[in-house]
Amino acid sequence: MPIKFPFKKDKKHPRTEPLGLEESHIPKHVAIIMDGNGRWAKNRGMPRIAGHKEGMGVVKRIVRYASDVGVKVLTLYAFSTENWKRPKNEVDFLMKLPVDFLSTYLPELIERNVQVRTIGDFDVLPAHTQKAVKEAMEKTKDNDGLILNFALNYGSRFEMVHAVKQIASKVQQGELDISEIDESMFSQELYTSELIEPDLLIRTSGEQRLSNFLLWQLAYAEFWFTEVYWPDFDESHFEKALYDFQNRKRRFGGV
Ligand code: FPP
Repeated sequence: MPIKFPFKKDKKHPRTEPLGLEESHIPKHVAIIMDGNGRWAKNRGMPRIAGHKEGMGVVKRIVRYASDVGVKVLTLYAFSTENWKRPKNEVDFLMKLPVDFLSTYLPELIERNVQVRTIGDFDVLPAHTQKAVKEAMEKTKDNDGLILNFALNYGSRFEMVHAVKQIASKVQQGELDISEIDESMFSQELYTSELIEPDLLIRTSGEQRLSNFLLWQLAYAEFWFTEVYWPDFDESHFEKALYDFQNRKRRFGGV
């Protein structure tokens, strides 16, 4: 059945005609590289962090929409293992974003039955970031609606090397024979072990690369790129990405 979902209309986000998404064919796991915050801000003569702040508002809108249309998992690339190279004030700001986001938005996430999770090397994040995210995870752990999965200090190569070490150690201990190593076992050692694989990857801002994001997990995903900077991304762009996804033929290597 085609579905139409109204979304908040305002001056910046005029409503376009609904494209008519097919309810039975919504991607289950959407992964997003939210890119272009810095350029968005620069174009307006603002500091880069203003772009990240605006981008946080977009996260709220997109989470609402994803949960309304029935996406099961939404993975957002919020901070990569490479992002530590940015100026200190920007890193500090990015590490405060989850705190700000959750301090205002956690009640709505709870109301919407959203479950918050993270992937990435969590233990080295600043204490205040860990505290806010842990609290959100704890308060939403029994929710069974949309899984909102933040990639925080995430790097795909780091994740895979870690998985290899875990498996190698089991072999070394004699717990595992090399002949038993397969794709499914490898997947079980990744941060995403409990999640279904992404079927759609979105990247904003015109860049068309993966930047060390979910390299293993995206093996069969559809890719969707837009020139729009993340702070300008809204429900109509998301709807278009879902619509285009619905019109692609996924063959998984078959014919
Ligand atoms: C990439 O844009 C964006 C980031 C590194 C940060 C993304 C974070 C958000 C959108 C906010 C996240 C919100 C929560 C709740 C955690 P860029 O800075 O690389 O942009 P540029 O390529 O134009 O410089």
